[in-house]
Amino acid sequence: MVTNFHTWTSGSNEGGDKISYNSSNPRTITSNQYLNLLFTRKSIGRLTPPGPNTDEIETIIKAGAAAPDHGRLTPWRFIVIEGDQRAKFGEFLAEALTIRLAAQGIEASDAQIAKEQNKLLRAPVVIVVAVKVEANNKIPTIEQMLSGAAACENMLLAATAMGFGSMWRTGDPNYDPYVKRALGFDENDHLIGWLYFGTGPELQKNPKHEINVNPLITYWGQK
Ligand SMILES: Cc1cc2nc3c(=O)[nH]c(=O)nc-3n(C[C@H](O)[C@H](O)[C@H](O)COP(=O)(O)O)c2cc1C
Repeated sequence: MVTNFHTWTSGSNEGGDKISYNSSNPRTITSNQYLNLLFTRKSIGRLTPPGPNTDEIETIIKAGAAAPDHGRLTPWRFIVIEGDQRAKFGEFLAEALTIRLAAQGIEASDAQIAKEQNKLLRAPVVIVVAVKVEANNKIPTIEQMLSGAAACENMLLAATAMGFGSMWRTGDPNYDPYVKRALGFDENDHLIGWLYFGTGPELQKNPKHEINVNPLITYWGQK
């Protein structure tokens, strides 16, 4: 179990306020390093072992569940698929694809089937994030979905801080009721991300492109 995870130490230390990552494994970063982590997080498509272990998976999920949540509905659910289960679920994804295509009168090709079978092998750990929408709640559905997206981003950032590579993927299986059921959800629930976690190349070797935000910003009421 992760203990004393959220330990913030505000002080006049060199580099400004310090954020302690985990008091039982102290790795202290400055606010600037924290911002740098946001700016440099990058998706990595192929990830190798080691992936996060059970404690680390829990930390990543804790970060997800710390996302802004209007009405405290805890709309998120997290399904971990790791080890041999990835290939097993890959078989299921291939079957689901075959059924989806057959419904359109199309026969799945060997290449399409192999792609589905191997999808989850692109990283040692995959966490499926789902949103269980409370349809009749005063919190609009879109806000519950946005909370889910915030959880996904928190998870990617937490993994980055812990030294893991990650990537957020989706695709047709997200909207397939058969796949939803296999993961324990019903048709009204939403699969919003297949988050891949593992070890990737150093960021320096694979830098994040910088976005010029100036054209995207307006100060309302000013010329
Ligand atoms: C909801 C969502 C779904 C995505 N699904 C895919 C996907 O299925 N395949 C893919 O290559 N990228 C997908 N992406 C984009 C990548 O996660 C990534 O953000 C993009 O490649 C840009 O890379 P960066 O995160 O390093 O800036 C998705 C992103 C979001 C937010």
